[in-house]
Amino acid sequence: MMLHIPQVLTAEQVAHCRAVFDSATWEDGRSTAGHQSAQVKRNEQLPEGSREARELGDLVLAGLERSPLFISAVLPQRVFPPLFNRYGPGMTFGSHVDNAIRPVPGTPLRVRTDVSATLFLSDPESYDGGELVVEDTYGDHSVKLPAGDLIIYPSSSLHHVTPVTRGVRLASFFWVQSLVRDVSQRALLFDLDTSIIQLNKEVPKSPALVMLTGVYHNLLRQWSES
Ligand code: NI
Repeated sequence: MMLHIPQVLTAEQVAHCRAVFDSATWEDGRSTAGHQSAQVKRNEQLPEGSREARELGDLVLAGLERSPLFISAVLPQRVFPPLFNRYGPGMTFGSHVDNAIRPVPGTPLRVRTDVSATLFLSDPESYDGGELVVEDTYGDHSVKLPAGDLIIYPSSSLHHVTPVTRGVRLASFFWVQSLVRDVSQRALLFDLDTSIIQLNKEVPKSPALVMLTGVYHNLLRQWSES
């Protein structure tokens, strides 16, 4: 399931991120890549665990917590501390699948990557290329969103970032371990939750809503790990 989650960060927060980026030190993006992806990854990152990455990462995490759409679609159990990357002209990231398990630096924790996320931080008009392309059985899906918006997609999918040909593409990226590991079960719960929210507006007093809400929680109880 791919889903666009608008306005995880406000315009002011995006501007703050860019101001921090201007004075930060960037390193080769291959520092966090696995063996295969290192061969196709050509970009720059804020060093993992740097003061800037931690501060801006906390801003992103707070934005996720305020998003009912993100919570409903992802059912997050554990979120990897957000990282930040920069693609200048000629930079690209070839086709790859994200590493399945990510140790969280400085902790004994590991995140199983069920959901991958990219939060766009540059205005789409300010650069050419730099589309995130997710390849699935229905074909290629090309994504380029307004600054502050998030796309989530299955970590199991092949995906790539097309070469930037003008300007600079700034983004945050991270992974989430979901309470519900199976992507099709997670999609069913999201559809059910979305329908319940809609029915709550249209027929708020319907006794069927009590039953449907119960079904949602009883499925979540069966399918979740914690
Ligand atoms: Ni990736």
